[in-house]
Amino acid sequence: MQESTAILLDQQRFERWTSFTLGSAQLAAAQPGQYVALHCAAAGSYDPLLRQPLFVATTDPRANTCTLLVSDRDPAYDFLNTQVRGATLNLLGPLGRGWNIGPSVRSLALIGTPAHAPALFALAHSSVARGLSVTLALGEPVDDADTANDTPQPLSAPPPFLLPAAAEYNVAQGNDPAEAALTLLDDTLLRWADLLSIALPVELLPQVAQRVRAVRLQWNRDFAQAALLSPQHRLACYVGICGACSIDGRQGRKLVCSEGPVFDLRDLVR
Ligand code: FES
Repeated sequence: MQESTAILLDQQRFERWTSFTLGSAQLAAAQPGQYVALHCAAAGSYDPLLRQPLFVATTDPRANTCTLLVSDRDPAYDFLNTQVRGATLNLLGPLGRGWNIGPSVRSLALIGTPAHAPALFALAHSSVARGLSVTLALGEPVDDADTANDTPQPLSAPPPFLLPAAAEYNVAQGNDPAEAALTLLDDTLLRWADLLSIALPVELLPQVAQRVRAVRLQWNRDFAQAALLSPQHRLACYVGICGACSIDGRQGRKLVCSEGPVFDLRDLVR
């Protein structure tokens, strides 16, 4: 795997989220669901040693740019936020297997939490650009104005203007953002969608699978896909050698870095 570089062209802060625009022809060719592995240290330094994975949120092949949507809770945020415009970033990518949008797909239901939302944004943008219908459903923590000042505020959903205007965007609040997101995954949405794109904690995937089975008469391959990369995942080599990212699949171990980060849901749950 070759290291590459990208130039930080711009950054814009939106509440708890920052959009970093990078100049790189290589990254501008990223497919929805692919990611980069960012070296979050000054040139010549290896502290920290491990790169941070970040989903590509949008691409503009004509301008040779892409954007990364990063929350202030992301381990990569502090490093990126200290970089000046024009800085050269060291990264690997685009990496991994992204979302598979079959030729018969016309409508997409995207479901997730704020922590996993960047995985869904590139898919929403590219699908709307192809004339497909998109509904994004996110669960976010309850907005608690009484929280003490020194308590870190929970991460809220990215603002709607970061999505294409044609995408429908629904947010539900709850004590557990993932459970709140599941309340939006109702029968109507499941019947409407040709593709269900999931960015939820892995523990909830069996529950999602159960719901799909209960509603859909047919559950074809690639109908339900799940992105497993989140800021909490520890990846090391990014090329399928070290095994640090392995997870239990339905038929043995899967490597998030190279076989994912997007998997067919049926490959993950029984
Ligand atoms: S990070 Fe090393 S195998 Fe995936």
